[in-house]
Amino acid sequence: MKKLHIKTYGCQMNVYDSDRMQDLMENVGYETIDTPEGADMVIINTCHIREKASEKLFSDLGRIRPHKNKKEEDGGQMIVAVAGCVAQAEGEEIFKRSKVVDIIVGPESYQTLPDLVGKAIRDKKKQINLDFVPDNKFDVFRELASNVGDAGSSYLGGSSRRVSATKGVQKSSDFVTVQEGCDKFCTFCVVPYTRGAEYSREVSKIVDDAKRLVDQGVSEIYFLGQNVNAYHGLDVNGEPASLAKLIEEVAKIDAVKRIRYTTSHPRDMSDDLLAAHRDIEKLMPFLHLPIQSGSNSVLKGMNRKHTRQDYFKIIEKLRAARPDMGLSSDFIVGFPGETDRDFEDTMDLVRKIGFTQCYSFKYSPRPGTPAADAKIQVEESVKDARLAELQKLLTEQQIEFNKKAEGQVMPVLFEREAPKSGRSSPSPLEGEGGVRGKIQLWGKSPWLQSVIVDVESEEEAKKYFGKIADVKVLKSRPSSLVGEIFE
Ligand code: 5AD
Ligand code: SF4
Repeated sequence: MKKLHIKTYGCQMNVYDSDRMQDLMENVGYETIDTPEGADMVIINTCHIREKASEKLFSDLGRIRPHKNKKEEDGGQMIVAVAGCVAQAEGEEIFKRSKVVDIIVGPESYQTLPDLVGKAIRDKKKQINLDFVPDNKFDVFRELASNVGDAGSSYLGGSSRRVSATKGVQKSSDFVTVQEGCDKFCTFCVVPYTRGAEYSREVSKIVDDAKRLVDQGVSEIYFLGQNVNAYHGLDVNGEPASLAKLIEEVAKIDAVKRIRYTTSHPRDMSDDLLAAHRDIEKLMPFLHLPIQSGSNSVLKGMNRKHTRQDYFKIIEKLRAARPDMGLSSDFIVGFPGETDRDFEDTMDLVRKIGFTQCYSFKYSPRPGTPAADAKIQVEESVKDARLAELQKLLTEQQIEFNKKAEGQVMPVLFEREAPKSGRSSPSPLEGEGGVRGKIQLWGKSPWLQSVIVDVESEEEAKKYFGKIADVKVLKSRPSSLVGEIFE
């Protein structure tokens, strides 16, 4: 069997895309290995959002070079593909800067990867495909699914590792892409350029995916999209359906026990979605709703098209709909022109809302985005200080939220199986200081907290794999809870 190594940077969308590329290549006879050593193919799936994205790529490529040379000395061939958002953004430039690369493929065209690999090997020519054709991408995966029967579910949603004969790791929660791309053009962000315009999949196709996943033992469906609450896929009558409607349809599937969605934009928090949080019990009481800044003038500069007051209003309505709602957000500090006063507005908003867990970043200019050309860039030392101050507050809030769980009984969805090799989730069997001789179960609370429970034996552990059970929380840690099964 030919060997494939994939390195993934960035968001959940990229992890998902890497899984799909793995599916595609496994379908044409590759198996996945953990290092580039001896590989017949290496894929680097890149992220353009973080700082120094292309520097990271070229240093990775530098490290791959000796492996590629060795492979050739041994009479073989190693195909190196660069995928993801850096590929989309930099295109042909990558060929110019690194001789190691054979294929450049974008996030909306990677369904053509087996084809490109075939051509690269046969014609000994470099290949590039940066087309935006999401419709075509999903159709390719559907076709693969119908060709390979049951195992095909992995092409549509969820992880190849869950159904892959070679890996055999099963999961209790899995992602289904429902929407891709973004039309919002926040002035700091590359996504609209690298992932293209908003595109929503049809309701019936998503419902089919969810059904196939639950047949594989999944009970939590996690809808994925760059702008997931802008979802407007067609229903059976050919009418656009909202995300709330989609949630309602998937909630009708008995074996689906939990539904989540990410990532949302405040502008698309429609009233029916807020109502869904009140009416649909399977919809978990947790929302990741990036605001980026608490200052109206910064929000304006970011082209967010919402104010801090809009955000407060949404949170108020959400909490009225679901009083136990847990909230998470993304923040950028040091956006061009951000003053001390603006930053204080962000701190004030965080204090007033109270988040359960958040992501925060220093602004980093992305070439080609409007904010990158702004004259008044904030000094690095100021960004550092603001980030440290914000993160201190966010960590305190997270610790406080976890502390509140102590003594509470909550339903926990346990992993279906202890992951054997973990790209996806931490092994429940390691770390966290479990009691010797006992087995640690690992699961998720409704608020996305990791929950760890000790059980006596492997047999007992198996009773809980993939199931939801009540857990009494004994102790909280900054990023997890420790509890016992509550019967
Ligand atoms: N600089 C810093 N953070 C950024 N993000 C996106 N682009 C940038 C940038 N240029 C952050 C935003 C977004 C998250 C995924 O990454 O907070 O919500
Ligand atoms: Fe980027 Fe803004 Fe679109 Fe989010 S909404 S993907 S931050 S442009």
